[in-house]
Amino acid sequence: MRKKIVAGNWKMNLDLNEGAELVNEIFKGLPELSESRMVLIAPPYLHLTQTAAQLTAMDNVYLGAQNCHHEASGAYTGEVAASMLKSAEVAYVIIGHSERREYFKEDNAMLAKKVNQALSNDMQVIFCCGEPLEIRDAGTQNSYVEKQIKEGIFHLGESQLKNVVIAYEPIWAIGTGRTATSAQAQDMHAHIRSVIAAKYEQDAANKMSILYGGSCKPSNAAELFECADVDGGLIGGAALKAADFLGIIEAMVNA
Ligand code: 13P
Repeated sequence: MRKKIVAGNWKMNLDLNEGAELVNEIFKGLPELSESRMVLIAPPYLHLTQTAAQLTAMDNVYLGAQNCHHEASGAYTGEVAASMLKSAEVAYVIIGHSERREYFKEDNAMLAKKVNQALSNDMQVIFCCGEPLEIRDAGTQNSYVEKQIKEGIFHLGESQLKNVVIAYEPIWAIGTGRTATSAQAQDMHAHIRSVIAAKYEQDAANKMSILYGGSCKPSNAAELFECADVDGGLIGGAALKAADFLGIIEAMVNA
């Protein structure tokens, strides 16, 4: 059985005190998580060691980073290498978020290198994909997302693919309050799974967790997570409030 996951991407929000307080509040309200359920918290780099220490008290709650550099080390001022993240007890690295693609000009070739860095440092990858509004309006979202996946992760062998989670985040739904309908999410997730099955074994596709992201909140999480191919969510704004994040975790636990 594949895992159901709720992952909180804090993006560039919260100072160290606010971050510690939020994790504390989440801890207080966290329901019991069975082995088939997991929660991930991906704060800014600066928070990682602090958050790691807090998470030792929680079962099935993992630490994530929002990015890593595509080279192993060297003269890249201001950057953070995958090996450094590993040494800070990071378990998952989010790679290919649309904000990284858009604002930092990360293309699929660079993202494929980042995926390699994370995997070769024994971390797991949450590989993000998703189309802008004009592609959705043109009805070509399936081939757009397929290309992102092919160029980002299809160089991996099946044993490496086991350490990859895909997050589908339609750009028009991120931070806009405009969530994809559960039918839109299910259609794309089923398409992504079929793309994986066509390249790898059906079994590998069945085992892959595929998360939805984009204006996910307590009021719509249950409906989204009930879809056959939606295995949880990558949460932005609602991950910054303990009550909202816990509400989404509850929906995942009950899905
Ligand atoms: P929102 O939940 O704020 O729409 O952000 C989604 C996202 O980008 C998570 O990575």
